[in-house]
Amino acid sequence: MEVEIGEKKFRLMITADEIALRVNEIAQKINQQEWPEPPLLICILKGSFMFTADLVRRLQIPHSLEFLQLSSYANNLTSSGEVKGLDSFSVSVQNRPILILEDIVDTGLTIESLRNHLLHQGVVSVHVACLLFKPGSFKGSILPEFCGQSIPDNFVIGYGMDVAEQGRNLPDIYVLENAN
Ligand code: IMP
Repeated sequence: MEVEIGEKKFRLMITADEIALRVNEIAQKINQQEWPEPPLLICILKGSFMFTADLVRRLQIPHSLEFLQLSSYANNLTSSGEVKGLDSFSVSVQNRPILILEDIVDTGLTIESLRNHLLHQGVVSVHVACLLFKPGSFKGSILPEFCGQSIPDNFVIGYGMDVAEQGRNLPDIYVLENAN
């Protein structure tokens, strides 16, 4: 199956059923983790909205949920290297365990920047749950603890992830064709 967005062609990579399995596995691990107190989940917008909605419905631990819009991609297919939006988060995080929810960890810059920002505000701990992980482009220092699936270093869309704001609504995940 293929989708076309503008001049770009994407082919089916991970079906909605497979995504559901991965999200279940992540939720189980989060449920089994010993949390010193209810974690504060931070959903990184926009890409993580679908992952978050599915994940929290499978969580059995007490928690609270906040949303933070961060961006480093603009409308390009690669990270700009600068994360924007960190200062817009005004929720008190002191003495809380934090669980960052990311659709996809690519270079790791987004989670690394947010982690450092939170650690300066006196959080107890920072964990990361991500649906997808690109080990080939990861440059961070700490691997995400709760990870659905590793994928090659190619651009993907669907299940919340976009190309120039298109494709977020797709229930499956598609990969850019002719990507190497
Ligand atoms: P990082 O900071 O390089 O790890 O990039 C993380 C963010 O970039 C994610 O939250 C996504 O919004 C976006 N991103 C990274 N790779 C892709 C992709 O293949 N498709 C769509 N968005 C991506």
